[in-house]
Amino acid sequence: MRLCLIGYGRVGYGFVRVLHRHGGWLAQRFGFAPRIVAVHDLRRGTVLAPAGLDLARLAAAWEENRDLGELGERGPGLDAFAVIRESEADVVVELTPTDLRTGEPAAGHIRFALASGKHVVTTNKGPVALFGKELLALAREHGVQFRFEGTVMAGTPLFSLVDFGLAAPIRRVRGILNGTTNFLLTAMEAGRTYAEALAEAQRRGYAEADPTADVEGHDALAKIVILANLVLEGDLRPSEVPCRGITGLDPAEVRRAPREGFRWKLVAEARRSADGVVAQVGPERLPLSDPLAQVGGALNALTLELDPLGAVTLVGPGAGPEVTGHAVLADLLAIHRGLR
Ligand code: HSE
Repeated sequence: MRLCLIGYGRVGYGFVRVLHRHGGWLAQRFGFAPRIVAVHDLRRGTVLAPAGLDLARLAAAWEENRDLGELGERGPGLDAFAVIRESEADVVVELTPTDLRTGEPAAGHIRFALASGKHVVTTNKGPVALFGKELLALAREHGVQFRFEGTVMAGTPLFSLVDFGLAAPIRRVRGILNGTTNFLLTAMEAGRTYAEALAEAQRRGYAEADPTADVEGHDALAKIVILANLVLEGDLRPSEVPCRGITGLDPAEVRRAPREGFRWKLVAEARRSADGVVAQVGPERLPLSDPLAQVGGALNALTLELDPLGAVTLVGPGAGPEVTGHAVLADLLAIHRGLR
């Protein structure tokens, strides 16, 4: 499997590191040995390497902030579309920065790649929240796969569980879908300041490039819209979903709540109703007996409700370069194994 990476930021770097660590096991266990034959990044440059890049050197180039052009045969001057076209990759891995308003430039790259008959794997939430059904239809039309496990709950497998482990319609999903705000709330409860905790969330690579998207709830909104439309079969646009973030919460109240038997969490929910699928995002003061109240730090959690199982709750890492990189790898492995 030949891969073309469009966007080589923190998630791309996390993906390369995870592939480097587990490549031997993947080859032995599944006969799966992907090669990265092209990387394009607006800041870091472009490289085409049909024989496959050395992963240690690719990771080192990221760490040392070196131009990618040094690693391969050619590349400078090509834009993302030219790289997708010329790389002869089987799969395009789209990892450019997320734009939740327009979905660009990722949406354009994804359409182009699918229409060229290439599978696409992305962790980019904008295009999936805004155009998920259209992109899946385009993939089907061209006989390729469009996979996005890392868009919701990062490396914690959610879509694969829904696609392969469930056989009945989900009534409701409810959970904590943003790692940054959960990390902030946990740190604030422990007495740290908002600014200090946000700086640490940024250092650890949890926060979006512009953390406003996290703290105002827009990131959780994009994720709940993805679930509402692609798992609950709804038809929501992000602008229609009520959304509040955590910036209006009083830090003293966040600290005090546990002493009163409660904990503040940013909760996202989508459910089927008489009016179709509806969703919302906002802070909630949960009793400590609620399982979501026990989920701290950058962990995410999601409860799926369906007949006859009742509630199934997934808890796992929801943000961070390597855990998100793991989702990319899981999607690639699913394509390799022919899972649809
Ligand atoms: N900024 C996001 C979060 C990253 O904090 O959850 C994972 O989507």
